Amino acid sequence: MKCTIFTLILVSTISCLYSVHGHVLLNHVVVEYEIYTDAVTWDEAIQRCESENGQLARIPDKRTDDLLRDYIYYSGANNSVETGFWIGLNDRATENTFVWLNGGPVCYTNWAKDEPNNNTKRNAAEGQDCAQLRKSRDFKWDDEYCNDIRTKGYICEKQVCNFCDTC
Ligand SMILES: *[C@@H]1O[C@H](CO)[C@@H](O)[C@H](O)[C@H]1NC(C)=O
Ligand SMILES: *[C@@H]1O[C@H](CO)[C@@H](O)[C@H](O)[C@H]1NC(C)=O
Repeated sequence: MKCTIFTLILVSTISCLYSVHGHVLLNHVVVEYEIYTDAVTWDEAIQRCESENGQLARIPDKRTDDLLRDYIYYSGANNSVETGFWIGLNDRATENTFVWLNGGPVCYTNWAKDEPNNNTKRNAAEGQDCAQLRKSRDFKWDDEYCNDIRTKGYICEKQVCNFCDTC
């Protein structure tokens, strides 16, 4: 049975929640993406996703990246965030080695020009360790201060069950 499903279903636009249900097989697990425009830090974003039984999103390939970007514009979510959306990519553990919070290989990246740059202007001690889809760069990827006060939304991935799953 062919189980690669990639349907885009608009589920909800309740207040500041935009849901993009792009089902994609990620390491053989079907996930959906949910785009939130609440303004949070990276650590808060982790907690928010976990409270929805999800994880801060991984983006496995260009197709998913393009879909998310298209949907951010299509839904108008681009208008509702100041600077971007957090994703799960970070180099907190080892400088300059970016990993997904939720594990798995980093098969694809889409850094904006001259990023990641580990800018230290606003935080010389830490630099920039947490990735966002950056609004001013057409939502290409950018390393950012994890506790940046310039507010950002976040994107969660959530495992879902479908006819191919046994969960
Ligand atoms: C958000 O995207 C829409 C559709 O592309 C565009 O018309 C609008 O100007 C964008 N908003 C901002 C703040 O860039
Ligand atoms: C990033 O900046 C921090 C803080 O200045 C520094 O400790 C770290 O070595 C830098 N990382 C890279 C890859 O330059």
